[in-house]
Amino acid sequence: MDLLDRLRLDVPVAQAGMGGGLAGPELAAAVAAAGGLGTVGLTAPDRLTDAVRHVREAAPGRAVAVNLLMPFVRRSHVQVCVDAGVDVAVMAFDIDRAMISRLRDGGVFVFVMVGTEPQARRAIAWGADGLIAQGREAGGHLSGDTEALSFLPVASRIAAGRPVLLAGGIASADDTRTALAAGADGVVAGTRFLLTRESRAHPAYQERILVADNTFRTTLFGLGWPAPHRVVANAATRRWCADDGRARLAPRLLNAFSAPLARLPDRAAASVGNLQKPTLPLFSPIAPTVDMPDSSVDRTALYAGDTVLRIESVISAREAVATLAPGGH
Ligand SMILES: Cc1cc2nc3c(=O)[nH]c(=O)nc-3n(C[C@H](O)[C@H](O)[C@H](O)COP(=O)(O)O)c2cc1C
Repeated sequence: MDLLDRLRLDVPVAQAGMGGGLAGPELAAAVAAAGGLGTVGLTAPDRLTDAVRHVREAAPGRAVAVNLLMPFVRRSHVQVCVDAGVDVAVMAFDIDRAMISRLRDGGVFVFVMVGTEPQARRAIAWGADGLIAQGREAGGHLSGDTEALSFLPVASRIAAGRPVLLAGGIASADDTRTALAAGADGVVAGTRFLLTRESRAHPAYQERILVADNTFRTTLFGLGWPAPHRVVANAATRRWCADDGRARLAPRLLNAFSAPLARLPDRAAASVGNLQKPTLPLFSPIAPTVDMPDSSVDRTALYAGDTVLRIESVISAREAVATLAPGGH
């Protein structure tokens, strides 16, 4: 069945579910109401239930997607997806075979975001309904190190007819048309939707990334989850990263031994974020949200993809969907 029909979409444009409170129900609902696929970012299970309810009420008849940021996912998150009857779950940064089965048995369409051939093979072997091919130019955490348009054919071959969305480098209708012409069934954008009025990114974070002239890959903000991510510079990276973005030895060692922190409950993780300062090499994956002080932009991760160099302003989520729609200009 056609993806647009199956997910009741007007346009093959999905908003990335950005965790840590960045993509809340307001953003997902605005995207869904505009005809795209709105995705709620991972949050505590009780808040996730409320968020799904909000999207359903604000965008009646539209699909609802939930992002499962696997290092922080517990069984209760999966249970919420099934109980709330969400249409789509996006599993990213690791997968769990039993969780995929549980979701599919509950009628949830499971996309897995991948960045390498082995990840794609495993996702399909473990029952994914579709793949999101993420390129190295993407904002936030990175699944692989290949550009999206080069990786797309690899993912499509392995997906063998299942839908494949392209993530990374999507900021205009031209980008979407290029991705569709290359064989993608749709596109996923994160940075473009981070820079909307409905996103919960701190306004100072939005301003910082809008004026940036470079993004780079690092592992600095890796406390509890030492995986590579794409950011723009701030006081923390200037103090603790080498010129090529590589984190210096002290934060790298601390991050390497910190994986159990990923199991901290949300509120405890937020307190760790508040303790961060540019001079201390302890940096969690938390990003600046509206409820944090202005100073957080110099001590937390300013995630952004390469598209930020082409994006000029904060717009509404509805305008962002229209900007990315293949018929737009
Ligand atoms: C601020 C930010 C936060 C993100 N958080 C998540 C997340 O929680 N889970 C996830 O699967 N992907 C996350 N991503 C990655 C997106 O899924 C997507 O791959 C990426 O945004 C695509 O590249 P783009 O930002 O250039 O559009 C995040 C991206 C950004 C920019």
